[in-house]
Amino acid sequence: MKQPSTSFQEVIPAGEAEKFENYAQKLKLIQRAKSQKYGKGRLLHRKGLLALKAEFHVNAGLPAYAAQGIFAKAAQYDAVIRLSNGSLDIQGDKKPDIRGFALKVTGVKGKSILTGQPTTEQDFVMINHLTFSSARAEDFLDLLLELSSGPMAAIKHLIKKNGFFGMLKALGHLSKVIGKKFASFATEQVSTALPIKIGDYAAKLRLLPQNGALPAAPKDDLTADLRAILKNKPLNYDVQLQFYTDATTTPIEDASVEWPQAESPYITVGKLVIPPQELSGAEYEKFAAEVELMKFDPWNAIQEHQPLGNIMRARKAAYFASQKGRGVA
Ligand code: HEM
Repeated sequence: MKQPSTSFQEVIPAGEAEKFENYAQKLKLIQRAKSQKYGKGRLLHRKGLLALKAEFHVNAGLPAYAAQGIFAKAAQYDAVIRLSNGSLDIQGDKKPDIRGFALKVTGVKGKSILTGQPTTEQDFVMINHLTFSSARAEDFLDLLLELSSGPMAAIKHLIKKNGFFGMLKALGHLSKVIGKKFASFATEQVSTALPIKIGDYAAKLRLLPQNGALPAAPKDDLTADLRAILKNKPLNYDVQLQFYTDATTTPIEDASVEWPQAESPYITVGKLVIPPQELSGAEYEKFAAEVELMKFDPWNAIQEHQPLGNIMRARKAAYFASQKGRGVA
């Protein structure tokens, strides 16, 4: 086992910000086309599945390397959750997809990374994977742009880039990621997949369900089970951090590497509680509509939790463009 370290470094090539801004402008065109079909909405994770109210608890007595930013001292915060499917399209839950778990912790005290001004929000934007499908943002963005012109365009792009067998390998990997079995938001772990700063240190954050064994959600309605449980019982998750130890074991710039838990085990720093709540009726619909219009963004964060690495940097321009495209930024 290795120790958490402060020696992490981002490697930012010259001209990267302009490059990501160019991608964001191209993505806007896809978002516009999809919005003509479905109405205004997010570029990715367009289909919101459920909006929830929650409590975010920070444990007392954390080790010094973890007790930073919102984990500095024992506390309880109100939080909001948006569950989603990852696709560009609004489609049935049965379709293979990445599942999104966006968490906004409110009532926080800190300075915004983006503006340097006081902010009260800390977002953790998570998926049902411990890593990202591509090592580098450019690979994902090129494929996304091609995919929007249809599967054949994406296949041609992959052949051009990787050769025929490389294309097969890349497609196999992609279908494994998207096709990963997902039983339920009550029982599946979700993760930031990419690191953020924890003050002087860096870590990935995940939520580990503490709800015992439960039947899987119906495949065609991935939140039906949550609606049933939350009529009278809470859902609980451990909030855990997995720390950066060194550049080889826990790389910052390659998002496709799973950080080995034998070298860097997750430690529990708090819990997320989703209390029983009303999930139908006019009041819920109003709340859910408000949540659809919210911004969940890894860069909506306090300075102690700055997102790290190439994919996180690419997300900065992409999320802002998408928020502008749906009229909330
Ligand atoms: C280069 C890589 C990525 C790009 C370009 C990208 C782009 C986007 C965009 C444009 C949105 C819509 C933002 C909005 O309108 O508010 C979005 C939403 C989302 N993304 Fe990403 N993303 C990337 C990687 C990731 C990763 C690594 C994760 C999680 C580990 C993730 C999880 C999510 C989730 C959960 C949402 C929905 C947030 C919500 O409910 O509002 N994305 N993504």
